[in-house]
Amino acid sequence: MALQLIEHGSPEYQQMLNLRNLVLRKPLGLEFDPIELEKESHDILIGAFEDGDILGCCMLIEENPATLRLRQMAVFNEKQGKGIGRAMMHFAENLARERGYKTLNMHARKNSVGFYEKMGYQVTSQEFTEVTIPHVIMEKKL
Ligand SMILES: CC(C)(COP(=O)(O)OP(=O)(O)OC[C@H]1O[C@@H](n2cnc3c(N)ncnc32)[C@H](O)[C@@H]1OP(=O)(O)O)[C@@H](O)C(=O)NCCC(=O)NCCS
Repeated sequence: MALQLIEHGSPEYQQMLNLRNLVLRKPLGLEFDPIELEKESHDILIGAFEDGDILGCCMLIEENPATLRLRQMAVFNEKQGKGIGRAMMHFAENLARERGYKTLNMHARKNSVGFYEKMGYQVTSQEFTEVTIPHVIMEKKL
């Protein structure tokens, strides 16, 4: 498995969108807004690939000069539980450290809180609703 940055608008980005749609949007009956997707050209896009096929993805958005937010963490259903999410978190955290960020946070879906806890993140907010489902903010000092 190779972890790599994804260029916005590239064929790899199309694979990433397909994965995000299947795992994160379709189950909720939602779709992406093309205007929101355009803005992702400013973000750090990350993918886990095997033989050119995407297995998992996530992205990092600058919240402020010290803090990045992780978004859109997804692994294909049949590939979950094999360490791909963990590998992507390590890649994202190392990249954030190298670029001088001090904190990583995310709006975690409630059913993924256990995953982020295993990665060393702590819940720092009350529960709130986003994309129709319960979330909490989680955070880790890098
Ligand atoms: C959450 C997700 C990204 C985790 O990726 P993954 O590749 O399945 O996770 P890993 O195999 O690297 O798991 C690492 C550890 O976390 C645990 N874990 C994984 N998902 C978990 C979950 N939802 N709840 C609790 N623990 C979880 C694993 O059991 C493993 O524990 P271990 O080290 O003790 O064996 C993936 O399951 C996924 O895409 N889920 C659906 C989409 C989603 O909810 N994304 C998060 C949006 S905030």
